[in-house]
Amino acid sequence: MDQERSLRELTEFLRIPSISTLPAHDADCRRAADWVAGDLRRLGCRDVQLLGSDTHPVVWGVGPEVPRAPTLLIYGHYDVQPPDPLNEWTSPPFEPTVRDGRLYARGAADDKGQVFCLLRAIEALGAPPVNFRFLIEGEEEFGSKVLFDLLRREPERTRADVALVADMSYLAPGWPAVYTSLRGMCYAEIAVRTAKHDLHSGEYGGAAPNAHEELCRLLVRLKSPNGRINIPGLYAAVKTPTARERAAWKALPFREKDFLNRRVQAKALTGLKGHSVLERLWALPTFEIHGILGGFTGAGAKTVIPAEAVAKVSLRLVPNQKMKTVERQLAAAVKRLAPSYVSATVRFLHGADPARVKIDHPAFKLLDRAFREVVGRGTVPARAGGSIPVVPALGRAGASVLLTGIGLPDDRLHAPDEKLDLQQLWDGIDVFGRFYKLLGDNKL
Ligand code: BES
Ligand code: MN
Ligand code: MN
Repeated sequence: MDQERSLRELTEFLRIPSISTLPAHDADCRRAADWVAGDLRRLGCRDVQLLGSDTHPVVWGVGPEVPRAPTLLIYGHYDVQPPDPLNEWTSPPFEPTVRDGRLYARGAADDKGQVFCLLRAIEALGAPPVNFRFLIEGEEEFGSKVLFDLLRREPERTRADVALVADMSYLAPGWPAVYTSLRGMCYAEIAVRTAKHDLHSGEYGGAAPNAHEELCRLLVRLKSPNGRINIPGLYAAVKTPTARERAAWKALPFREKDFLNRRVQAKALTGLKGHSVLERLWALPTFEIHGILGGFTGAGAKTVIPAEAVAKVSLRLVPNQKMKTVERQLAAAVKRLAPSYVSATVRFLHGADPARVKIDHPAFKLLDRAFREVVGRGTVPARAGGSIPVVPALGRAGASVLLTGIGLPDDRLHAPDEKLDLQQLWDGIDVFGRFYKLLGDNKL
């Protein structure tokens, strides 16, 4: 493996600001798709296609045919999250920079660096004895609509023995993981309107309603200070993890104290008392406020009573909850909490059902062995707090879905100074190469 060349190529990929949620970056998303398609062609794929959208296409590819060998579907995404706040990056997000053996850039770990890792592992082996299929999408960070539509029309695209998803991280340095669940998501905008137009706060203040005040009160009522979400029915479907699972979590390399001090770096953790941090991260729903828009936020001061305020919020859902049900529950809760003189509306932007995956297919043993041979330890089963909307659909045609990754817990996904440790990348290329080889030789 020519590391210098690999680094150059990954840098090229990371330079493309393929931010799927911002329409101003449509052309960049398309460029990132073209980059992936070019790479698949170079790897010898036949039938490389861009599907479902001109701006955020799914990149499809079919590797060289290997008779009687197992079929492996590789999933990943080439889109990234917005990079703001820009002034908190040590080096600019789309100018990949190596410091102390780490590559800093938006998408370094989530997920361009990991897609790159899966592809270079193929190149390093020459022609692995596996029938590869590729689905690399460009809208994962915005709900995966293009890919969902494609798979609804053409479910046979997921026909494979195994689907490999490398879009997560180790549990701790030296501790590779395989994930048994992902949380789902329900993302919405809550808009509050209190008057036809903004009002002078001297002329009207004291007698007119204020949209921001009403929105804040509503938001605060949606979650109690103790962490319980105040949405009727929300917890009904939530399953308490079994005693056995909780005991297994206790043995994982995870210390609440380190999580607070090294990763969160806040003064305290919040959330439901009586539930461990891992349970709160993996097995309980959340309600988060992502941003509040409206009113005057420019430099200086303006004395106005805003007539409208909008909050971007999301709920994370846990196995057994349904996105559609939670949408209805949130809409009903907002309606119930808004005073009669306030018009409050909920607009859903995207969502995903939670995912559970079984890890009993023989391919898990092979992945385990690949990690053990390269990094000295096999995978530990864990759950994930994040979401990958398409995962339940990837398994629908019978493929076993392997959720894993080569990132580290401190990679700062979605945040300033996202990075990928280069040693993780080089090891990852060896691990997945080993896995492809084992999979092919075992013929399942
Ligand atoms: N790679 C992440 C998902 C992830 C992160 C899984 C950490 C496990 C641990 C993915 O790119 C992601 O961020 N997904 C979004 C999906 C959402 C926008 C529907 C997420 O989780 O916010
Ligand atoms: Mn990702
Ligand atoms: Mn992400």
